[in-house]
Amino acid sequence: MGRDMRIKALQELFPPSLIEERVRGMAAEINALYAGKPLVMICVLKGAFMFFSDLVKHIRVGAELDFVRLASYGESERSSGTVRFLKDTEIPLQGKDVLVVEDIIDTGLSMEYLQRNLQSRGVKSLRIAALIDKVERREKAVNVEFSCFTVSGGFIVGYGLDYAERFRELPAVYTLEFEE
Ligand code: IMP
Ligand code: MG
Repeated sequence: MGRDMRIKALQELFPPSLIEERVRGMAAEINALYAGKPLVMICVLKGAFMFFSDLVKHIRVGAELDFVRLASYGESERSSGTVRFLKDTEIPLQGKDVLVVEDIIDTGLSMEYLQRNLQSRGVKSLRIAALIDKVERREKAVNVEFSCFTVSGGFIVGYGLDYAERFRELPAVYTLEFEE
């Protein structure tokens, strides 16, 4: 799928009310698991920005917040397998419980890289919270402990997720339909 693909339509998949319900549910699970622990929540920019900001509003364990940005697909929709940091964390992670907050896990390549990298810094624990677990094209077995939604495939936009930097601002999640 290249940049020449024409967008045909957006099909609403998850409305804002359902997203809010799932995000609150996830926050409750996180609060229960990390009660009394020194949690660092890491937002994977840019796609997780809206999910992260809604999620952390319901977190009650005194978490520290940080941000990373990984080299992304650019305007193509397929993972290259080569991942690097465009922005690294700023908070020391050694000995801490770390929760990576990601928009969507697709092939798992980015998350596998990020996990390996963060593990090497001596974190106490490392888990993943994803808005969407997209299972069809998984290449690396990554354990997604928390997810709001599981989808088989398709290209998803809205609520932070983009296609060529468009649609991030939408408050619902949509499937993108392309012209044949
Ligand atoms: P992975 O390395 O293949 O798991 O892809 C991870 C990243 O690709 C995600 O964090 C997204 O930024 C992007 N991505 C994968 N699938 C989609 C999608 O359906 N819509 C928007 N972005 C996606
Ligand atoms: Mg992402």
